[in-house]
Amino acid sequence: MKELAPGIWKITLGEPEKLTPVTMSRLVETMHNSSETVNNLSDHMNNVVLSELSIDENLPTMLPYYGEPIFDETQMKYKVTKRGLVLELPLSLEEEVYGFGLQLKSFSQIGKKKQLRTNADPVADSGDTHAPVPFYVSTKGYGVFVDTARYVSFYCGSSVKLKQEHAVTQPQGNYKIKTTTEELYQFQNNNCDRSMVIDIPSVNGVDIYLFAGPDMKTAVQRYNLFSGGGCIPPMWGLGVWYRGYGKMNEEDVLLLAAKIREDKIPCDVFGLEPGWQSHSYSCSYAWDPQRFRNQEELIKKMSLMNYKLNLWEHAFVHPTSPIYDKLKDLSGDYEVWNGLVPDFLLKEARDVFAGYHKVELIDKGISGFKLDECDSSDFTGGWSFPNCAEFPSGLDGEQMHSMIGKLYQETLYSIYKNSNTRTYNEVRSSHALAASLPFVLYSDLYDHGDFIRGVVNSGFSGILWSPEVRQCDSDKDLIRRIQTVVFSPQTLVNAWMIPNPPWFNYDITKNLLGEKAEDSEQISHLVKTFFELRMSFIPYIYAAFARYHYEGVPPFRALVMDYPEDTKTYHICDEYMMGDSVLVAPVTASEDKRKVYLPTGNWYSFWTNDKYEGGNEYEFEVPLDKIPLFIKEGSMLPLAKPVECITPDTIFDVTVNCYGDTCVDFILFEDDGNSFNFMQGDFNRLILKKTKDGISEIREGAYPGRKYNIIG
Ligand code: GAL
Repeated sequence: MKELAPGIWKITLGEPEKLTPVTMSRLVETMHNSSETVNNLSDHMNNVVLSELSIDENLPTMLPYYGEPIFDETQMKYKVTKRGLVLELPLSLEEEVYGFGLQLKSFSQIGKKKQLRTNADPVADSGDTHAPVPFYVSTKGYGVFVDTARYVSFYCGSSVKLKQEHAVTQPQGNYKIKTTTEELYQFQNNNCDRSMVIDIPSVNGVDIYLFAGPDMKTAVQRYNLFSGGGCIPPMWGLGVWYRGYGKMNEEDVLLLAAKIREDKIPCDVFGLEPGWQSHSYSCSYAWDPQRFRNQEELIKKMSLMNYKLNLWEHAFVHPTSPIYDKLKDLSGDYEVWNGLVPDFLLKEARDVFAGYHKVELIDKGISGFKLDECDSSDFTGGWSFPNCAEFPSGLDGEQMHSMIGKLYQETLYSIYKNSNTRTYNEVRSSHALAASLPFVLYSDLYDHGDFIRGVVNSGFSGILWSPEVRQCDSDKDLIRRIQTVVFSPQTLVNAWMIPNPPWFNYDITKNLLGEKAEDSEQISHLVKTFFELRMSFIPYIYAAFARYHYEGVPPFRALVMDYPEDTKTYHICDEYMMGDSVLVAPVTASEDKRKVYLPTGNWYSFWTNDKYEGGNEYEFEVPLDKIPLFIKEGSMLPLAKPVECITPDTIFDVTVNCYGDTCVDFILFEDDGNSFNFMQGDFNRLILKKTKDGISEIREGAYPGRKYNIIG
């Protein structure tokens, strides 16, 4: 067991594979010559230290005292079998575990089997997910990361090893045969001899990383810092996103963009769907010359209206694409939708792909991408490459399924990083150590409850998730979903199936026919009000992302992370913390009332200022124009006057509300909002203090500009 940094240990069991999430992260950063580096990699990685993973070594030392590792080597039993490596870790009876990436169907994982497998349609609670992150945290205050790109299974106390001896009670005279369901299924709820059994196929060894607490939140912080710290999106990325109809042409885009401005509905990013390309499924990455004749004009006009333009694509390269020939020998041996699957682990492949994107799209003003279909499907036609596919870097299909989303993100992100421009994007698949990548996950699934759980769960695994709004069943459904997405990492309306915004008519058939709903004005007004609320929260959310970057604290997270002592939070997956002081309890269309559990301490309703004692559950009426929001006592909440969009010149007028007699200082993060200069120290900490005369402000830092004007 080797201590990499205070509270982070690495344990090598057997002979690990060369290509793992950790080695691949390192490889992507440093590789010069692909094949040579791949071969030399494992020796190098055996001596990995934090600084080599571009983590500031000092950061984890800022975290609270951690004590000794939770397990010692003797408690970690492993063996290599014909099918791979099996590892058993202790798991006590009182313990709950969370994590494993973007789990949409469940929260606490105790008693479950999770096979972590990338899947485009994770319809069951089996472990299939858009982001299978082999990392879990426990209420005992530690985290475990299994460094593998294999389809690893975690049996979370769900399996019991064969015992040498069983204490069997002999049937007595009047022994009663068990017949009730409860009696018969008693042993299903195994409440003895728990352990975490981890089954990693096809390997002879694996590296395990342990992250200390003392509590779960700190363990997650350590994991996020180990991953390079969380991303800070550009400020505009935190505004509202709108994705237009797939069949739009240039004129349609400009008309709708102008209409959104005319209606004064906040919007920062306009996204184009597959129809912008001359060929998609698979992709050409070239504009369709019929639908988009004056692409550069379009980008210019959109920019004059202060929109950022985002383009849909996926990674499978069509034969008509200008990069097809160059990528042919740098791709896997199976096609997807007649296209190549580039091996993004090869520097040459990334250079071709990124080089083209830079010159043809990014340098011309494209602000980011929606990286679609980089998961694979077992349920919708089985598209994608098979697990037995082979890639020139040495990855097989299974490993590539796990990693393609993340490697794809890294490929495109590097272009923005090198040109010192921040970006914010969408992606449909990710994996471990992804916290620093400014990409937000989304799904074609659509259950609202699952989408809320996605916000809660993603905070355990260093990933971001958007409960995007698409078509809706009713006005109520639309508004409730809008409320949820407003309080999420990315406020996104994905109207790719409808020519008019959903607030024009939520009904797809009528929307397609251009029939405006009778109550459209009312609904648009409500939507606008919530988008404005989002804009008010941007300085607060931006500060939460700064903590994600510097301290590893996820901006959106489960209550149990902040209240580990309050066991009533252990199973709450329909409420979450946004930043340090706001508790969000979204409502789904079927609810007219909402039970909200408020953890230990006092809370204030955002809407009424009424005070509530924590440690209790309350039932609230939930009128359609309200989403339950509660502010923790002792907090200051900076709220901005909403703007329609964020430009480099935007200065937010901020009002600070105080909750309770004494409040902890609030620190706003101030920089240019758009470049990576903050990494060179070009930022301010704007410290807000409550004094008897009002709010005092102290600006510390080197950024000469201003983003906030504190007005009261
Ligand atoms: C799906 C994606 C949708 C939309 C659609 C366009 O894969 O999840 O959001 O982009 O493709 O074909």
